[in-house]
Amino acid sequence: MPKVQCFECGEEYSSDEIIYRCDKCNSLLEVTYSDEEIREKLDFDLLKTKELGVWKYRPFLPCDKRVSISEGATPLYEAPKLAEWVGIDELYIKHEGDNPTGSFKDRGMTVGVSKAMELGLDKVGCASTGNTSAALSIFGAKAGIGSVVLLPAGKVAMGKVAQALMHGAKVIAIKDNFDRALELVQEAANKLDIYLLNSINPFRLEGQKTIGFEAVEQLGWETPDRFVLPVGNAGNVTAIYKGMAEWERAGIIEKPPTMTGIQSEGSKPFVEAVKNNKDKITPEKDPETIATAIRIGNPINGPKALEAVYQTNGSAESVSDEEIIEAQKKLARLEGIGVEPASASSVAGLKKLIEQGRVDSDEKVVCVTTGHLLKDPQEIIDILEPPIEVKPNFEKIKEIID
Ligand code: F0G
Repeated sequence: MPKVQCFECGEEYSSDEIIYRCDKCNSLLEVTYSDEEIREKLDFDLLKTKELGVWKYRPFLPCDKRVSISEGATPLYEAPKLAEWVGIDELYIKHEGDNPTGSFKDRGMTVGVSKAMELGLDKVGCASTGNTSAALSIFGAKAGIGSVVLLPAGKVAMGKVAQALMHGAKVIAIKDNFDRALELVQEAANKLDIYLLNSINPFRLEGQKTIGFEAVEQLGWETPDRFVLPVGNAGNVTAIYKGMAEWERAGIIEKPPTMTGIQSEGSKPFVEAVKNNKDKITPEKDPETIATAIRIGNPINGPKALEAVYQTNGSAESVSDEEIIEAQKKLARLEGIGVEPASASSVAGLKKLIEQGRVDSDEKVVCVTTGHLLKDPQEIIDILEPPIEVKPNFEKIKEIID
C-alpha cells in the first residue's frame, strides 16, 4: 500500500485516512511508494505492450481503477510550423484538450473518484475555475455519486459551466473569486462529509503524473529536455515532476526534465516567487486575465511546485493576454490544435523564454496544452471578427471570396 506523507515534516498517514493537510504542521501531503513496492508491481516489458491511457501506469498509481471514461491517451503532436514561429528546432504539443471532458483534469479525477469509491464515499466536491468542475461532474455521474462544485460567479467559461450542469452536479456560484471558493469548499468538505477533489487532494494529483509518462513513451521512451505548462493552482507542474522523479528512481529515465511554469501577467504569484527565489508564495489579491482557468491568486500547491522548478533548474515566466491570444491563434492556424486561452500560455511563454535566451533553440521541448478550444467559445467571439452576413446571392459571395 502506498503511504500518505507530509511534504514538509515527513509525518506518515494511512492511505485509508481522509486527510488533506498534515495534522502536525498543516503542510501539503503526498502519496509515496517504497522502492520495493514499485519493483514488485512494475514489469517494464509488460508495461510497454499495454495500450496508452492513465491506468496502464498502475504500478505508479495509488488505487485500482473503479471509475473510468477513456481518460488520457492524448496525442503528442510534432509541431514544426509552430516551432519555427517560437524559434526552436523541435517542439511537441501534448494536447490534453483531447480528454473526455476536454482537459487534463480527467486524469486526476479518474484516480480521485476511484479513491472516493474505494473509501466508500457518496459525495465529492471541488472549487473550480471550470475544468475541474467539469471533470468532477462527469466522473461523479459515472460513479453514481453526488457532486458539488463551487465556481467564481461570472468568471467561468461557458462550456465548462454547461458540462457541470449537464452531468448533474450541484453547481454553486460564489460571488467572489476562485481563491475564496476554494476556502469555502474546504470548510464544506470538512463539515458535510464531502470528499474534496481539488488538487490539495494528493490522490488526484497521482493521475495527472501520467501526462509526463505518456509524453516520454510517445517520444519513444526518450525524456524531453523540458516541459512547459500553464500554472494556476500549480498541481500539474507538481504532478508531472513527481512522476518523472519516480521514473528516475525506477530507472526508466535518467533524470526529470526541466519544469517551466507560465502564468498570465494579471495573475502571477508563482512567477514572482520563482523570480525572487522564494520557497513560499505571496498570494495576489485580485487576479485578472483572459485565461480564466488560471485566474488564481493563491496557488494551493505552491511549495511543491516551487520544489519541482528548483530541483530541475527550471524557470517561470508570465505573458500578457495579447501574447496568449496570439499563441492561441498560431496553435489553431499553423498546427490545427484548438486550445483555450490558459493552454496557449505555455506556447506564448516558451516563445518569450527563447527570445530572452533562457531556453536554447536546440532543446527538445514539450508544451502541454491543457484544455480544448470549445471550453471558452465566448473568448473566441470576443477576439475574432464575426462571420460576414450576406444576402443569399452568389455575386455577393464571390465578391467576398475574391
Ligand atoms: N490549464 C487549464 C485549462 C486549467 O483548467 C487549469 C486549472 C490549469 C491550466 C492550471 O493547472 O491548477 O494544476 O496549475 N484549472 C483549475 C480548475 C484550477 O478549477 O479547473 P494547475
